[in-house]
Amino acid sequence: MNERLFHSYRPAEGHGLAHDPLNSLVAPRPIGWIGSISGAGVPNLAPYSFFNLFCYRPPIVGFSSGGEKDSVVNARDTGEFTWNLVSRDLAEAMNASSASVGPEVDEFDLAGLDMLPGVDVRAPRVAAAPVQFECKVTEIRYLKTLAGTDSSNVMVFGEVVRIHIDPAHIVEGTYRTISAAPVARGGGTADYFEIGPDTLFHMTRPR
Ligand SMILES: Cc1cc2nc3c(=O)[nH]c(=O)nc-3n(C[C@H](O)[C@H](O)[C@H](O)COP(=O)(O)O)c2cc1C
Repeated sequence: MNERLFHSYRPAEGHGLAHDPLNSLVAPRPIGWIGSISGAGVPNLAPYSFFNLFCYRPPIVGFSSGGEKDSVVNARDTGEFTWNLVSRDLAEAMNASSASVGPEVDEFDLAGLDMLPGVDVRAPRVAAAPVQFECKVTEIRYLKTLAGTDSSNVMVFGEVVRIHIDPAHIVEGTYRTISAAPVARGGGTADYFEIGPDTLFHMTRPR
């Protein structure tokens, strides 16, 4: 059998392509639209696609920041953040909230979004988001390199202490993922995917 030819490379030595494929390889990724508040009381909102839900009980989410961005500083200072689901109608506002602005700028304001206060946390929620999580920080740690040194990437983990779901997306007791038209991050500089009925299929686990 002929060996398949792969484009193989060591990331530490370069990808050898016109564009780095890394963020297209693990894609699409959910977007962590992170709401927080600074120690001085300034609301903050930013998207993080190095984000995921890691377990059921207790529910723990995490996002990774390249350096200590405002969301990390706020999470450390206050011990809290929110996660807000980006639906298709909110994609442009999500993008606007990623602007590189100082900690004194409120990105809710910048992106024209209304805030809702947290019930169990002070961190603000995106009022228009179909789902919002209130989270309390459990760990903040620098991701390590193979050499055992700290990389420049900071991971923030939080336990989800309260969940808000727009009941419009709950049908007969089941939350319908596609009903909210969630947006996921594709690769390159500008690719996104809207999750919709055309891409849904079913497969049950083997016993
Ligand atoms: C869809 C999307 C995903 C992003 N994902 C990340 C990420 O995972 N990590 C990161 O450090 N920056 C990411 N960014 C860039 C941040 O959103 C941007 O640097 C932002 O200004 C950080 O805001 P903050 O300083 O208020 O936390 C992403 C931007 C977009 C538009």
